[in-house]
Amino acid sequence: MVGIYFSGTGNSRYALELFLQEYNKEVEPQRDADFIGGAFSIEDGNAVDAVRVHDTIAFSYPVQYSTVPKILRDFVIDNQELWKNKKIFIIATMGLFSGDGAGNLGRLLQKYGGETAQRGAWHTLAYGGTLWAKALVWASNQALFK
Ligand SMILES: Cc1cc2nc3c(=O)[nH]c(=O)nc-3n(C[C@H](O)[C@H](O)[C@H](O)COP(=O)(O)O)c2cc1C
Repeated sequence: MVGIYFSGTGNSRYALELFLQEYNKEVEPQRDADFIGGAFSIEDGNAVDAVRVHDTIAFSYPVQYSTVPKILRDFVIDNQELWKNKKIFIIATMGLFSGDGAGNLGRLLQKYGGETAQRGAWHTLAYGGTLWAKALVWASNQALFK
């Protein structure tokens, strides 16, 4: 599992790091097909190479204007050959009205051959604690590996 994020004020990055920390503790040791990756900003030049070598990806970003931030949408489109057959879990942080901010990215990734389960996209208001992260790990496991 590798994490990819866009984060303006840090919420989405924090949420992803917490999620990965729990995921790596609970799920990764039982799977030897993949290995532990870090969390990469889409602005990090190593993000694309990190995606290439992983089968499972977690995206995290803020809902902006009820949808996916343009910079992230552009990143996904510019690298459209990357998503084929990847299992992808989506975390979208938000303030008040999520719109379909998580679903919109999910459908875009599916268009390029990514596998995002219906229950694999989560909007979240609360991104604060271990319990929250454990719940997301459970959800990702159900969504991606059922
Ligand atoms: C330009 C902009 C547009 C936003 N639009 C929405 C929105 O439509 N709905 C919503 O619930 N929150 C919206 N927010 C709030 C962010 O989604 C929320 O604060 C998020 O957790 C920020 O994550 P970040 O710290 O990773 O940037 C918006 C924030 C910004 C800066």
